[in-house]
Amino acid sequence: MKIKIKFENFSLWFGNNQILKNINLEIPEKNVTAIMGPSGCGKTTLLRAINRMNDLIPDTKVCGKVFIDNENIYDANVNLLTLRKKVGMVFQKPNPFPKSIYENIAFGLKVHKFKNIKERVTKALIDANLYDEVKDNLYRSALNLSGGQQQRLCIARAIAIEPEIILLDEPASALDPIATAKLEELIHKLKKEYTIVIVTHNMQQAARVSDYCAFMYLGELVEFGKTEDIFVRPKDKRTEDFLLGKYG
Ligand SMILES: Nc1ncnc2c1ncn2[C@@H]1O[C@H](COP(=O)(O)OP(=O)(O)OP(=O)(O)O)[C@@H](O)[C@H]1O
Ligand SMILES: [Mg+2]
Repeated sequence: MKIKIKFENFSLWFGNNQILKNINLEIPEKNVTAIMGPSGCGKTTLLRAINRMNDLIPDTKVCGKVFIDNENIYDANVNLLTLRKKVGMVFQKPNPFPKSIYENIAFGLKVHKFKNIKERVTKALIDANLYDEVKDNLYRSALNLSGGQQQRLCIARAIAIEPEIILLDEPASALDPIATAKLEELIHKLKKEYTIVIVTHNMQQAARVSDYCAFMYLGELVEFGKTEDIFVRPKDKRTEDFLLGKYG
C-alpha cells in the first residue's frame, strides 16, 4: 500500500507552547485515517499542518518534515496555492459562502481556471450525494440549506477542484444522526478516489468510518494502526483509557 502523507520528526509551536511533539506518522493513500484524542491534544493542528493552514497563525514555528508523495511541503519553494488545491479541507462548522449553491462550487473552479464549469458543478454535487436534493434550486442561497446539506456542499466545493487529499475536522459534530449517517456514507464512497483524514471526538464514528486510526495525547502521537487493532488491542495504556471513556 502506498503512503500518501508522511510526518517525519515534526514539531510545532504556537509562541512558546509546543503543540505537536515529534510526530512520526504515515498515512496510507485512498483510505480513511481517523485522528482521535481528548480536546486540546492537537488534532486540529495536526490536520492543519497537512495544508500549512497553521502558517496563518502568527508566531508559529515548525521543525521536521511533512511529505506528500515525495515532496516536503515545508520546503521553502513550495507553492501554497498548488498545495491547497491538492489538499482540500472541510471544517467543523459548515461555512458556505453567502452565495448561491452553484456559485459556491463554481468559485474555486474559476480561480483554478477549470473549463466546463457547469458540468463540473453538477458532477461535484452528484459525487457529494447532494445533487438530487438541490438540483431545482441551484441558484438559491446556500445559506438556506440544512446543516447536513451545507456540510455536503462544502465537501462538493472541496472535491470540485480535484484534490488528492481531503481533510475533515469533526465534520459531523453539528449534525443529527440521519445527516451524520449520510455524511459517513459519503466518506465511505469518497475513499475510493481520495486520501481522507478525519478528526473526530466520536469513537463510534472513528470505528465506523476509518481504516486506520491515530490516537493523540498532549501533542504526542501515542498510537497508530489499523482501526480494528486499535479498538480491540490498544497497545498503550493511554489509548485504552481513552477508549474506555476515562478522558471524558
Ligand atoms: N490560534 C491559536 N493560537 C494559540 N494557540 C492555539 C491556537 N489554536 C490552538 N491552540 C492551542 O493548541 C492546542 C491544540 O489545539 P487543537 O485545536 O489542535 O486541539 P484539538 O485536539 O483539535 O481540540 P478539540 O478537540 O477541542 O478541537 C491547544 O492547547 C490550543 O489552545
Ligand atoms: Mg479541534
